[in-house]
Amino acid sequence: MCGIVGYVGHRPALDVVLGGLRRMEYRGYDSAGVAVLDGAGALTVERKAGRLANLEGRLDEVGREHFGGTAGMGHTRWATHGAPIDRNSHPHRDASERVAVVHNGIIENFAALRAELEADGVEMASDTDTETAAHLVARAYTEGDTKGDFTASVAAVCRRLEGAFTLVVTHADHPDTIVAARRSSPLVVGVGEGEHFVASDVAAFIEHTREAVELGQDQLVVITREGYDVLDFHGDAAQAKPFTVDWDLSAAEKGGHEYFMLKEIEEQPEALANTLRGHFESGRIILDEQRISDQDLRDVDKVFVVACGSAYHSGLVAKYAIEHWTRLPVEVELASEFRYRDPVLDRDTLVVAVSQSGETADTLEAVRHAREQKARVLAVCNTNGAQIPRESDAVLYTHAGPEIGVASTKAFLAQIAANYLVGLALAQARGTKYPDEVAREYAELEAMPAAVQKVLSTVEQVRDLGRRIADSKAILFLGRHVGFPVALEGALKLKELAYMHAEGFAAGELKHGPIALIEDGLPVVVVMPSPKGRAVLHSKLVSNISEIQARGARTIVIAEEGDETVRPFADELIEVPAVPTLLQPLVSTVPLQVLAAEIARARGYDVDKPRNLAKSVTVE
Ligand code: M6R
Repeated sequence: MCGIVGYVGHRPALDVVLGGLRRMEYRGYDSAGVAVLDGAGALTVERKAGRLANLEGRLDEVGREHFGGTAGMGHTRWATHGAPIDRNSHPHRDASERVAVVHNGIIENFAALRAELEADGVEMASDTDTETAAHLVARAYTEGDTKGDFTASVAAVCRRLEGAFTLVVTHADHPDTIVAARRSSPLVVGVGEGEHFVASDVAAFIEHTREAVELGQDQLVVITREGYDVLDFHGDAAQAKPFTVDWDLSAAEKGGHEYFMLKEIEEQPEALANTLRGHFESGRIILDEQRISDQDLRDVDKVFVVACGSAYHSGLVAKYAIEHWTRLPVEVELASEFRYRDPVLDRDTLVVAVSQSGETADTLEAVRHAREQKARVLAVCNTNGAQIPRESDAVLYTHAGPEIGVASTKAFLAQIAANYLVGLALAQARGTKYPDEVAREYAELEAMPAAVQKVLSTVEQVRDLGRRIADSKAILFLGRHVGFPVALEGALKLKELAYMHAEGFAAGELKHGPIALIEDGLPVVVVMPSPKGRAVLHSKLVSNISEIQARGARTIVIAEEGDETVRPFADELIEVPAVPTLLQPLVSTVPLQVLAAEIARARGYDVDKPRNLAKSVTVE
């Protein structure tokens, strides 16, 4: 949460920083702010609560000409400490207004630090934890061993901070330098010609350079126009990992779509194809960075999938396939619950941590807990070099490309595909599937991008339906087997985008309570299994639909093309291509994404920026 960008170079810093913030606004919509160093010793700051547009309006009012300079930084905030109002917006400054700081994360010992500063006579101007860092850097710079040494002052402060943080710091005495530091929170360096960047995400600088450097844990970087130095928090030189970003600016832009989410829904066939590509060679499944040996995979006697939100739903889908293919017990657990209930783990447990961002705090803590218990951890992640893959034993990257819309779409489908690859790798290592069976399953997965493309060509009907039911008070979602997590995902999409009450249920549970919710005209979305794949489930769901229809529900049925048995029970029938049972979530989720987006649009909401949410949740 919170987006950070810093720049030192030859271009007007304000333009570069605002351009970066536009691409990182997805990380927090509570406020935005900038600081620019003009080279003559002036540090000019402006910040404003609300969307980035508010800040831009404010900059126009005060005059952008006051922000001349080729070094600067910016921030978009997702509030943790202090209400989302102007005075809590970043950057924060010390009392002399020579030091400015932007921050992502939580400084856990901020109350003690604040008390210490107040006892020293410092008057706090905000309710944030961040402001303490600005005062501490200013103090370190004016006294003691670090006096006059900007980098050493920041390093000394970092050593005192507890919690997770990315900090970017400027000092008016050093107009050509920015110092940035990280612990358990993302920070990448962009390496250009005569210019350098720091940011939470490469999207902030991809317009200018694709050459990047991934900072390690407890590292600090000093950027100038000429270069960058990576140090540890004791000021010693440290190693960081250079990489080249493998997507370009167009991937981080809307490309003519009204919203990123709509673009990302359309990118799903490509996201699936890219995720699968290269993982089946010479008749074998190959994972990305498989630092878990085949022998270790053979020894696995239990699998946990830990994740949050949509990623958790992808794990629920995977459970059906992994258990079926490997005969291993699979538990799927919300990462926020996992470590607090003392799960039974040992070195033969495989924990699969699924995360688009790779920085979700709950999932990261679950990974740490699992590793402490000696379990092996495999990350399924969409973000190269993020904290979760770094702290895991192995990683399988989903190659969905940047996902900017807060609601997960293409990353979710890619996670399902990647989880299935994990299942096939386990089945292969354990011999629970013959090589030709693994090859057949993989070939079926490879056919999925085309199937999803087919769904996308028929979504106009779903859009029309969305507009017609946009005034509903609530919508329920029902499914069985792999259709159950799809129902949960459909409900989550609707809650987060349309702010509508939505619940997903296992259809078999209906009679145990939820059926009491059914009333005249209530839309109920039913995710049907294939009549050929699981005939018994199909007929049970047909009975469930007729039960709710008899009680007045408006039934919206997602069913396989040509499934005539269900037609009489469907007030609205949405057809998806016939695919193997376990792969059905890849096609049946798509109409639910489109439905939620269209209802949100019809209700006048910003599809990419749902209220109260941010794309990555880096606090527990
Ligand atoms: O980055 P992650 O995959 O770890 O994020 C997990 C959830 O926060 C995320 O899936 C969230 O639920 C999405 N907004 C759902 O659309």
